[in-house]
Amino acid sequence: MQTTMQPTSERSASRVAALLMCAPSAYDLLYEINAWMHLSDKPDKQLAWRQWEQLYHTLTEQIGIPVRLIEQASEAPDMVFTANAGLPLPGKQIVLSRFRHPERQVEEPYFDQWFREQGYTVHLLPSDCAFEGEGDAFLVDGLIVAGYRKRTDICAHRYLSQLTGLEVLSLELVDDRWYHLDTCFLPLGGRLVAYYPEAFDWYARRVIEQHFETIPVSPEEALKFACNSVVIGKQVAMPAGCPILRFYLEERGYTVYEVPMSEFIKSGGACKCLVLYLLDE
Ligand code: ARG
Repeated sequence: MQTTMQPTSERSASRVAALLMCAPSAYDLLYEINAWMHLSDKPDKQLAWRQWEQLYHTLTEQIGIPVRLIEQASEAPDMVFTANAGLPLPGKQIVLSRFRHPERQVEEPYFDQWFREQGYTVHLLPSDCAFEGEGDAFLVDGLIVAGYRKRTDICAHRYLSQLTGLEVLSLELVDDRWYHLDTCFLPLGGRLVAYYPEAFDWYARRVIEQHFETIPVSPEEALKFACNSVVIGKQVAMPAGCPILRFYLEERGYTVYEVPMSEFIKSGGACKCLVLYLLDE
């Protein structure tokens, strides 16, 4: 990374103060709402539990970031994917998600209650405007980078820019397998990102290339959810089996921890989907 980017990269790295996770006590595959989910190929719950624990252990013990927990509601099998709770903003604020699918809308009141109990100001979008939180939006170096079309509507991007006064880079997702921004776009600190170009339309690719220093991810590793990694400063928890991205990151001084994620990939998620970035107060 260039030295001129150092101060901003340090600032954004230090802003993630903790993570929100949800242990998979009621995790299951009971419907199909994305291209990865097949009722004929359900997750092994015991293995899912072990994989979640390994991720939790990697984050808390090896990377050393505090993890807060929310209890999984029994009627919300996808609530483990806390990235979709909303988008936390500086000053203990959150824009709560409005899920596209009724199957996940049941999660909204639980996340709403949790954030209110922690003293957050909760911002609610109009009810007809879908938004799936950090699954589709990242705060990156003074910008909001946001995906739309699959799970988030463009009206949510307008709402975010009006609420925050920040520029929003709106990126169109064009492939059903990369239906959330966090499945194909990985902010790495400052203006460095890894991304899978084929998940975006040509205009979004151009916008990404104009605003960021980029590391392209191969189709093989994109399919293994390489982009769905958790980045804390220079430490990365990455789904297992992505040696090329791992190599590029290690070359740039990152420490990479691999975590097997097979049972969550069956539901269309991996490391980053299981985590919500909570910011400094
Ligand atoms: N089964 C979940 C869904 O389709 C997976 C969510 C993955 N989350 C994410 N941030 N990409 O909604």
